[in-house]
Amino acid sequence: MVPDRVKLVDVGPRDGLQNEKQMVDAAHKIELVHLLQAAGLREVEVTSFVSPKWVPQMADNAQVMAGIRRQPGVRYSVLTPNMKGLEAALSAPREQWPDEVVVFGAASEAFSQRNINCSVEESIERFRPVVQAAHEQGIKVRSAISCALGCPYQGEVTPDEVERVVVLMKGIGVDHCGVADTIGVGTPRRVQAAMERALRHYPIAEVSGHFHDTYGQALANIYACLEMGIATFDSSIAGLGGCPYAKGATGNVATEDVAYMLRGMGIDTGIDMDRLLDAGAYISGVLERPPVSRAAKALLIK
Ligand code: HMG
Ligand code: MG
Repeated sequence: MVPDRVKLVDVGPRDGLQNEKQMVDAAHKIELVHLLQAAGLREVEVTSFVSPKWVPQMADNAQVMAGIRRQPGVRYSVLTPNMKGLEAALSAPREQWPDEVVVFGAASEAFSQRNINCSVEESIERFRPVVQAAHEQGIKVRSAISCALGCPYQGEVTPDEVERVVVLMKGIGVDHCGVADTIGVGTPRRVQAAMERALRHYPIAEVSGHFHDTYGQALANIYACLEMGIATFDSSIAGLGGCPYAKGATGNVATEDVAYMLRGMGIDTGIDMDRLLDAGAYISGVLERPPVSRAAKALLIK
């Protein structure tokens, strides 16, 4: 049942750097994407086309997309919460378009309001034309369902609440279902219960997990997903990240840690660990702090 190949989507340039107080230059972001693809990552979440007033760290979105030297076989995704975001992403020459766009909703009403300034139902109506327009251009649409395991404002979130959003996303034609533990409170059996609701509506190849490591549960939660056959996970180089609208949320699980676990389990990720460590060391150097990744710290000391 455990898959023999796993795809890691590095969301560090987006989810990681959106939450850094220190502004990172577009040139450093571009170099980070280059190092990630050189390390064997086959999908990178590069940036987000959101309001620069809300998330100033991503205001250089177009510059970053324009600066990337694309590598064949690598997919580049961006967040587009509304038509304004999609139009901005597609206003560049076609070769700079994303391969995939992400619409991000929430399993909790309170978080939807704080993060995207509208209710869950309203968010779906904003996403509907985004999905349609993206599909017309042959662009795949992925969802991120935030707070699927708990909400910083509402508290507990039930599998029923997760399934409600899964169904709404499916209803507007979203191709892939990303289940996100925004504040990292999930534990393995609860994660399996949430994932099971996604799998009722999406094929296993179109379900992924996005785990923040706030409570140190992310690797256990990924293992719980592997037991279900799920084979796609978001992770963040050097454990960068958080969410500006989820106070106290720390970074995504570190790509180095997940790659280390999967390598140890004999699961193919296509990742070259040494080059991955280079990517983590690079961005940690830019931020002037050590990587959060435990595996990176241990391997770099050797
Ligand atoms: P809004 O304020 O409700 O929208 O924003 P609005 O239509 O009223 O527009 C207000 C202003 O924003 C206007 O500018 C618009 O032009 C502008 P003004 O007239 O005041 O100068 N605007 C935009 N500008 C650029 N790009 C756009 C855009 N849309 C409107 N796309 C919106 C709605 C969603 C855009 C806003 O609330 C926003 O940008 N929020 C930030 C959300 C965000 O980026 N959160 C972090 C990413 S999600 C995340 O991290 C979770 C995830 O990792 C999974 C997990 O862990 O849970 C994915
Ligand atoms: Mg996140």
